Formats: sequence, C-alpha cells, structure tokens
Amino acid sequence: MKDPPSPSPTAKKGPMQRSLKEGGTVVPVREILWGDSTGVHKYETADELPPEMADLIMRLMVVQADTEYGSIQQHRPWLDQAPSLEDRWVQARIVADEARHGLQACRILRDFGEEGEARIANLLRTKEGDHKLDAFNIPFDSWADVGAFTCLVDRVGVYQLRAFQECAYGPLARAMPLMLSEEQLHLNFGFNVLRRMSRDGPKYYGTKAEAQEAVNKWFPRALDMFGHSKSATSENAIRWGIKRWTNEEARARYLLELTPLLQSIGLEVPDPDWNRRIH
Ligand SMILES: [Fe+2]
Ligand SMILES: [Fe+2]
Repeated sequence: MKDPPSPSPTAKKGPMQRSLKEGGTVVPVREILWGDSTGVHKYETADELPPEMADLIMRLMVVQADTEYGSIQQHRPWLDQAPSLEDRWVQARIVADEARHGLQACRILRDFGEEGEARIANLLRTKEGDHKLDAFNIPFDSWADVGAFTCLVDRVGVYQLRAFQECAYGPLARAMPLMLSEEQLHLNFGFNVLRRMSRDGPKYYGTKAEAQEAVNKWFPRALDMFGHSKSATSENAIRWGIKRWTNEEARARYLLELTPLLQSIGLEVPDPDWNRRIH
C-alpha cells in the first residue's frame, strides 16, 4: 500500500506568499502578484505599458538613479579619509555599488526611448545640492555621518527596493535581488560604524555622542524619504502592481526594524515627528 502524500509546506499558499519573502531570495514569477491586474502576465517591455504606468516607472527610476548618483558625491571625500584600511575599501565598494545601481536604473530608463534618454542626460548633469530628496543634498561632515547615513538612509533605500520586488514590470522586478544584496553590505557597514563608536568610544574613530548626533541629523531626513502619507501616486503604484506598500506602511515597517537596532547599541531614537519636512 502506498504511503499517503505528505503535506507540502507551500500547499495552502498563493503565488504572492510563495514568492514574496521580504529581503530574501525570491523565485521569479511571471504573473502580477497584487493590484488591479493580479494574475495577469507581467509587462516585459516598455512598449506594452499603458502611458500612465510608463510615466510613473520613469519618474520612479529618475528618483532612484538620482539617489544613487547623489550618494556617490556624498561618499567621495571619504574614499581617502576613512579611518582604517578596511573602511576605505568599504567606501570604494559602496561607491562602485551605487554607480552600478544608477546604471541599472538608467538602463530601465533607456528602454523608454528618447524620453528616457532625455531624463538620463538630466541625471548626469545634476550637481551636489540639486538632488530631488533632501537626504542626498547634505554633505558628510564627519565619519559618524557616513555611518548614520548608510545605517539609516540606505536602509530606506532598501525598503524602496523591496517595494519593487516582484513588481508588475519584469525588467524592474528582476533588477531587485542583486541590488538588495549589495545594499545589505551598506547597511551592515553603517550599523557597525555606529556600534563601534557607541561601544568602543575613542578607540575607534568617534564617540557615542558623535554617533547620537549623527543619528539625530539623518533620522528625520530618512523618514521624509518615504514621501507624503496621503499620496495619490503611491496608491496608483500599488493598484498597478508597481509598489507593494503605501508610503506610510513602508515608513512604519522601517521604524519597527530600526528602533530596536539603534537601541541595542545604546543609541536613542528621536521622536519620528521631530524636525520632519514631509508628513
Ligand atoms: Fe544603491
Ligand atoms: Fe547603498
């Protein structure tokens, strides 16, 4: 007599739950997983996209690339000022990763023909101080800034990328796993810089007080990056299967992750409403 079949752990899960493991490796799927067109085949070329979806994807890619190129400008002075050999190597690695992410976002823009090319030309002309999001217009004045930026601001970037994971536009969805794995290095590095300042004090490059000051400087700008809580654009992005979360949902998830992390190394988390420019 045959044994009864053992229940599969994924037997009761739909395609969304099977493929969406936050931040982890996902098995690419071909159908749209959320929004109005759930279950329909993903869009695979720019030509197939409805005009309003094409416009939104271009705008999102411009913001994405603009953050990558902005952060290269911010990191640049620390390539030869970081305190240790290892820190210098990580600075160089981060700059290389961000340049690759910028290229990846621009490749998606390129698929949109002349309109995409025009946006790329603008991106390449953008100078320090002229970036779209405030967090990328503030220089790194201290080594603590480098640590707090990578721990706090790059972490927001990760939430933005996770929101695109397995999205309705295939070329964008497939760009996410590698970008996410590279960003993980940036986050870990930033956290370690803050941890060493907070725990080791003067033995490392900077003190706990400097780490706290830098956290206070970047925290409100990081929270602003998620955008307005009541944003029609983010609602559309969810309906069209491009983004997974509203701005407010993503911001709340971020706070849930970051708060215990900073507290674990003895740093205080400011009030999330303090010093904010975008609500
Ligand atoms: Fe990046
Ligand atoms: Fe990064």
